[in-house]
Amino acid sequence: MDFVENQLLKNLEIKERTGFRAADDLVAPDMKLGLGTGSTAIHVVRRVGERLAAGELRGIRVFATSFQTELACEELGIPHYSLNSPELAGGLDLTIDGADEVDPKGRVVKGGGGALLIEKLAAYNSARYAIVADEGKLVSDLALRFALPVEIIPEARRTATRALEKLGAAVTLREALRKAGPVITEHGNLLLDIRFQTPVEPEDMEERINLIPGVVGNGFFTGRRAPWDRPLIYIGRTGGTVELRN
Ligand code: A5P
Repeated sequence: MDFVENQLLKNLEIKERTGFRAADDLVAPDMKLGLGTGSTAIHVVRRVGERLAAGELRGIRVFATSFQTELACEELGIPHYSLNSPELAGGLDLTIDGADEVDPKGRVVKGGGGALLIEKLAAYNSARYAIVADEGKLVSDLALRFALPVEIIPEARRTATRALEKLGAAVTLREALRKAGPVITEHGNLLLDIRFQTPVEPEDMEERINLIPGVVGNGFFTGRRAPWDRPLIYIGRTGGTVELRN
């Protein structure tokens, strides 16, 4: 087995261990549960499916944050509903999701998989919020290394790019793979990936970006104006342990 393949398998184990631990620690019967998107959150979904099949999670009602998560729920027989449904009535007890970057204050960047809009809807309407991430996601400052996604309506491509550049960001339109042209999100929008040259204050920047006309959402999840203050963070270590920060 070559180095790269070995590394991928190791990462897979870390993600699985971290996702399973959060699902075991936090998910309980009768919960209204938001389930996140991505290669780490999918293990939370798998574990919820296993526990449900074992009869441990009666009455659970899930909100899936993307097509990916919805398909996984369908396959695993996890009952999932719209946030507008009477079953969820616009509120969740807990959401568990992955992250692209996590800073020392527990603020995160999300949206590498393009699902930031619904992920934020879930996160900011949950009584509790938990992140599952491997240690490679830990950074001292957000949005310098990994690009912060900003979802915009297509008509705002030039204007929003200009406004973001004025905020000090380098801006790239996210290109699709195996489709010509840009990524079109699950809501018919475009994604601008932006990077700052120097550290920014995430709470302020999250709100300033949202004020740009045509911006629908951005990948800073700082928790300002959310029901929770800081998320619970499960960090998968390469040594095989999972560290809990809160
Ligand atoms: C999806 O849009 C994202 O917010 C993911 O939660 C995030 O990119 C983390 O994904 P991985 O766990 O696959 O790195």
